[in-house]
Amino acid sequence: MSSDAPRASLFGAHDTRSVPARLASLAGQALALASLPPAVIGFYLRALRLGRRSGDTVSLAIAARPRDLGELLRAARASTTVAEVGTGTGWTAIVLALARPDRHVHSFDVNEHEQRARYLDLVPATVRSRLHLAIRDGQDGPPPELPPLDFLFIDSSHEREETVTTFRLWSERLRPGALAALHDYCDEQYPGVRQAVAQLGLTGEERAGMFLWRKGPGG
Ligand SMILES: C[S@@+](CC[C@H](N)C(=O)[O-])C[C@H]1O[C@@H](n2cnc3c(N)ncnc32)[C@H](O)[C@@H]1O
Repeated sequence: MSSDAPRASLFGAHDTRSVPARLASLAGQALALASLPPAVIGFYLRALRLGRRSGDTVSLAIAARPRDLGELLRAARASTTVAEVGTGTGWTAIVLALARPDRHVHSFDVNEHEQRARYLDLVPATVRSRLHLAIRDGQDGPPPELPPLDFLFIDSSHEREETVTTFRLWSERLRPGALAALHDYCDEQYPGVRQAVAQLGLTGEERAGMFLWRKGPGG
């Protein structure tokens, strides 16, 4: 990593909010970060520092933020077998693995982002051994060898058709009573997620901008 690399901004290039609005949002995210488990806080701060220093605008733009992570960890708290569709640079997969020492996180993406390995290096081998990362299109459904899931996080293209297909195929692998979370349900930049939830006719609840759906006890 070059020390001359430009520092990535904490705010996206498209962020047109006023300075006070940005500062209020930053303060809210800092508070949310402070309430996460200590190991997660440690990783997140190291990842932020690495991302800013290395000019990694990708992770800062795509990784779930502390407020979302708080809700995600609450929703997944009892889950030991978790899948994520849309690994990105690995931040959320790592956070899910750090939050429970007996949790296995299976995460899939159509690409391996070049920055991902650097963030994996920030956590101990005992954590990395519980992260199972693979290249796979969510629309192809879960691989046959994937065990039944306690929790599913969909954070992929956010497009309506892809989200509908991914949800249909992957939710079949959830255990009865298990939860699925669809990221960016309330984000106006990604109307496809809300459209997919409507098309699927899902009933559930909105939390920190995500949509949470629970599979019925009958499967
Ligand atoms: C928002 S990022 C994921 C961020 C990650 N969940 C996190 O919070 O750190 C979305 C990712 O979905 C991937 N993606 C897009 N379409 C996909 C698909 N059909 N199947 C699997 N991954 C997909 C992209 O390559 C990208 O890395």
